[in-house]
Amino acid sequence: MSDPVAAFDAAWADLAPIGRAGTGGYRRYAWTREDHTLREWFAGEAARHGLDLTEDRAGNQWAWWGDATRGGALAIGSHLDSVPDGGAFDGPLGVVSSLAAVDALRAAGHTPDRPIAVINFADEEGARFGIACAGSRILTGQLDADRARGLRDGDGITLAEAWRTAGRNPDALGADPDLLGLVDRFVELHVEQGKGLVEHGVPIGIGSDIWPHGRWRLEFVGEANHAGTTALADRHDAMLGYAETVLDARRVAAGHGVVATMGKVRVEPNGVNAIPSRVTGWLDVRGADEAAVTACVAAIAEAAARREATLTRESWTPTTRFDTALTGKLADLLDAPVLGTGAGHDAGILAAHGIPTSMIFVRNPTGVSHSPAEHAERDDCLAGVEALARAVGALTGG
Ligand code: GLV
Ligand code: MN
Ligand code: MN
Ligand code: MN
Repeated sequence: MSDPVAAFDAAWADLAPIGRAGTGGYRRYAWTREDHTLREWFAGEAARHGLDLTEDRAGNQWAWWGDATRGGALAIGSHLDSVPDGGAFDGPLGVVSSLAAVDALRAAGHTPDRPIAVINFADEEGARFGIACAGSRILTGQLDADRARGLRDGDGITLAEAWRTAGRNPDALGADPDLLGLVDRFVELHVEQGKGLVEHGVPIGIGSDIWPHGRWRLEFVGEANHAGTTALADRHDAMLGYAETVLDARRVAAGHGVVATMGKVRVEPNGVNAIPSRVTGWLDVRGADEAAVTACVAAIAEAAARREATLTRESWTPTTRFDTALTGKLADLLDAPVLGTGAGHDAGILAAHGIPTSMIFVRNPTGVSHSPAEHAERDDCLAGVEALARAVGALTGG
């Protein structure tokens, strides 16, 4: 049995170097070597905590305190993967805090009246294969197994191939309703990705809802030609339509009161002296109002169509409202404010599947996330561990 604070610090130190880039940010993409190291670390922590490690058909790792087959489980946890040059906290804080909460409950002599699972969700960010929360979406059947197997990364490697390279059998990939049937509730602790808690002046908050959000792919087709010998009038430059669409997306989003981001682009042939023959741009749109998000995307699609571009939806997550009873219970128990978020989470996917779910947010002093500058103070993180331990204790008969 370890001291929860020492365990938290040790786990944080273990994870710090894994997948760290020269920028100070993290590059921890699903089913890569770095991801493998993180999964091995999680398996080692499960063993060290005396938790039984299982894996579901989507590749999510579950560390069980108590006999899973009894059912009625409380699940906690988050993810270990990152966006390109992500921060240290988005994901890992929830996993590390969950393990430390187990330590805290054990130190307090708590005997849970139901099984507790700490989950490490696979591929939450979708940084490599494009679909965020892929692990929880596959698990719940919200992402079809055949479609998942065929997803390609930027090098054209399919998810099925990546699974084979990682020593896994992609034919086994799929939903796992039997396992989900054993879970009664899910609580995900996560660093806040905005400044709501700074405004409230408190370290901990409870999640109420997630904005509707989605990802779309835009394809602009041109014709490659020589940068020095092709007159401007003779060019068919795929970059122009793309550039205009980036500006449109910004303008249209402002008009609809939502946010739109075009943060990823692929240019072909990607030569400084070649006119772009194809530009693929990815669009992320979110907002509090679902109809406004939909209208914004429709307007961007229309503008793109005028430039002969095609727009394809890659993923869509409608408004998610966390379980009001569970959210209220946690807010009362922890005397914490309730707040919504524009960030997606596996908690949203489990909630959409009908599992009563809520979240605990930990204050982020700058609100910055998906950046190496993401931060949370250690005291606030420890307050998060304590809050999670209290929540888990209360939800498991304490
Ligand atoms: C993932 O963190 C997302 O909200 O995009
Ligand atoms: Mn994230
Ligand atoms: Mn996250
Ligand atoms: Mn997320």
